[in-house]
Amino acid sequence: MTGVPIKIGFIGFGTVACGALEILVSQETLLKRRLGRTLEITRIADREIKRERGVSVPKKILTTDPTEILKDPSIDIVVELIGGIDAAKTFVLQAIKAGKHVVTANKALLAIHGEEIFEAALRAGVDVGFEASVCGGIPIIRAIKEGLAAERIKSIYGIVNGTCNYILSKMLEEGGSFNDILAEAQALGFAEADPSLDVGGGDSAHKLAILSNLAFGTSVSLKEIYTEGIEKITPIDIRFAHEFGYRIKLLAITKFSGNEIEARVHPTMISEDTLLSKVDGVFNAVYVDGETLGPTLYYGQGAGSLPTGSAVVSDIVEIARNIMSGSSGRVPPASFVAGARKSRRIRPIAEIESLYYLRFTVRDEPGVLSKISGILGSYSISISSMIQQGRKIDGGVPLVMMSHMAKERDLQSALSEINRLNCISGETLLIRVEGEDAS
Ligand code: HSE
Repeated sequence: MTGVPIKIGFIGFGTVACGALEILVSQETLLKRRLGRTLEITRIADREIKRERGVSVPKKILTTDPTEILKDPSIDIVVELIGGIDAAKTFVLQAIKAGKHVVTANKALLAIHGEEIFEAALRAGVDVGFEASVCGGIPIIRAIKEGLAAERIKSIYGIVNGTCNYILSKMLEEGGSFNDILAEAQALGFAEADPSLDVGGGDSAHKLAILSNLAFGTSVSLKEIYTEGIEKITPIDIRFAHEFGYRIKLLAITKFSGNEIEARVHPTMISEDTLLSKVDGVFNAVYVDGETLGPTLYYGQGAGSLPTGSAVVSDIVEIARNIMSGSSGRVPPASFVAGARKSRRIRPIAEIESLYYLRFTVRDEPGVLSKISGILGSYSISISSMIQQGRKIDGGVPLVMMSHMAKERDLQSALSEINRLNCISGETLLIRVEGEDAS
């Protein structure tokens, strides 16, 4: 166990950095046994270095100036954990240019500038580790890049946002409204003060852009990912879903079909018989279906200081191993070698086919059902089951239908016609349903 230590500089001293630093300190002996070399925390830069974080690192390695890391020729690995886009991109590219390896947990940065960063790293012959950017502690990036290297991936279905999964699980458990449960989650510290990126699906879309890119060897940009959040889901929908044998989850879905890629984030009904439907609370899970392997499922904590910090340290260990064996760049950052990536059409949401749950709010009067089903029928949309309840909500009664397989474009056209009917007294809700069509 000899050799000079591998030197690490942290830019950012927040929650995830503290988790990673705590692991580097508390697991020093284990890490040395796994690596055969010491990992040295050489410098930590942050705008604020006075606050006590409860991590035992020497005060003298703290600095407010990230260039002390970027310009230090002895530092091998730069860990970027400041979040945000512009400054993080500058630091990451500067580190790569200086020949340093990079570890980041920054999903937004990679979803937007991943291609540029990966190309720069390939040119410079350095590694970029980003295991912590998707689903915190779940090693899904390494699973796709290495464990599933033999697989032509067919589809990925991920519960990749703990905040949304917590809210939907609590709505099922307690019957509370979205707003009440969100407020409770904020009070408990499970949800951000500004939760819009989480509940609006944006955070899941960032993670899906990264997963889709790695799985299919193609560029999937954020703006091509159809994104819908969970704000409109009500306890009634959760109850109806259960009556039909489904759970509602915010899913990040990507599929390879007909040489095109589907990439979308939206609330989805999945059968109560699936393992994914049983993933509750703040936990994340990713289902990956491979052509020869079949389905695999990865489950764990998708956020938090120690789980995310653990993923950061796993990248540091992998990069340190590559440094020691002179094999940096061994695994291409985007999972496929540069010239082998292919451009594919990302299928617009209007072109997908799905099963649908439709909740109309209607006046309880004669002829309503025939008007609605008539319009659906005129767009070739066939109903597989239906529930109407007498209890009034928003001046009307809920009328819920499950469709057979239908084209999204037809469904949207039918809904805009139906929503103009006088018998519709409230907002209509559509939830896509994954599963087999009932025959
Ligand atoms: N805010 C995310 C979540 C964790 O709720 O899962 C970080 O991506």
